[in-house]
Amino acid sequence: MTILSTAIDLPRDTGEGQTRPETFNAAQALTQAMNWRYAVRQFSDEQISDVELGQLLDAVRCSPSAYGLQPYQLIVVASRDVRTQLLEHAYGQAKVVDCSHLLVLAAHRDIGPELVDRYVSLASVARGVSAAELAGYADGVKSALAAQSPGQRAAAAHHQAFLALGTLLTSAALLGIDCCPMSGFDPAGFDAVLALEQSGLTSSVICAIGRRHPADASALHPRVRVPREQLISVR
Ligand SMILES: Cc1cc2nc3c(=O)[nH]c(=O)nc-3n(C[C@H](O)[C@H](O)[C@H](O)COP(=O)(O)O)c2cc1C
Repeated sequence: MTILSTAIDLPRDTGEGQTRPETFNAAQALTQAMNWRYAVRQFSDEQISDVELGQLLDAVRCSPSAYGLQPYQLIVVASRDVRTQLLEHAYGQAKVVDCSHLLVLAAHRDIGPELVDRYVSLASVARGVSAAELAGYADGVKSALAAQSPGQRAAAAHHQAFLALGTLLTSAALLGIDCCPMSGFDPAGFDAVLALEQSGLTSSVICAIGRRHPADASALHPRVRVPREQLISVR
C-alpha cells in the first residue's frame, strides 16, 4: 500500500504560486461537499484506492497545530484481523471492521522538548535556516510547555489530534470519501491492541473511511444543526 503520495505539494507554493486558479470554484465545491457528507454508519465493501487514501493522508498531514508540533500520529489500520480485535473495544460498532480503512489519531502522551527539537530540525531544512537561528524560538516554546502541567500538555496533544480530525473530515468530503468519526471506543483497549503506550501514544479519536452502503439508514436522516443565530454571535 502506497500511503505516502505526493498529491499535495507539501513545500507550499510561495509568492506568485499562491494565486488560486480562476477555474476553481471553492465556494461551490465546499457547499457540495458539506451537503454530500454525513456520518456513515453502514459501509459497502468497496475499498478506497491507494491514490485516494494518499491524498487524504497528505491533507491531514497539512493540518495546522499549535507551535507546528503535530503531537500525534495518524495510524492507518488496513488489516481486517487487527480491526476485528479492535471491535470489542469499540462497543461492537461493526463499521470499525466493515469500512475500507480505519484511521486512528493517536496523541502523544506528553508534549516534551523532543517534539520541539523535531520541529526545529524539520524547519531548519524546510526554511534553510540554521538550528542556531531557531534556538530562541525553541527555547520560548520549551519554556511555555514546561510551565504547563503534564495533564495540560496531554490535553493539548488531544486538541491537536481533534483538529487533524476536522481537517480529515472536510478533506474527505471534498475528495468524495465517506467517513464516520468515532469517540465511542475504549482508548485503553485500542492502545493495547495497537501497542501504542510503548511509543508514548494514546488513542484520541478514530475515523472509519470508505464508501456508504446503499442501504445505510443514516443517509435518510435529515441533518440536525443548531440554528445559525444560536450558534454564531457577533460582538
Ligand atoms: C468526535 C466525534 C465522535 C463521534 N462518535 C461517534 C460514534 O462513536 N459512533 C457513531 O456512530 N457516530 C459518531 N459520531 C458521528 C456523530 O454522531 C455525527 O457526526 C453527528 O450526529 C452529526 O451528524 P452528521 O455527521 O451525519 O452530519 C461522532 C462524531 C464526532 C465528530
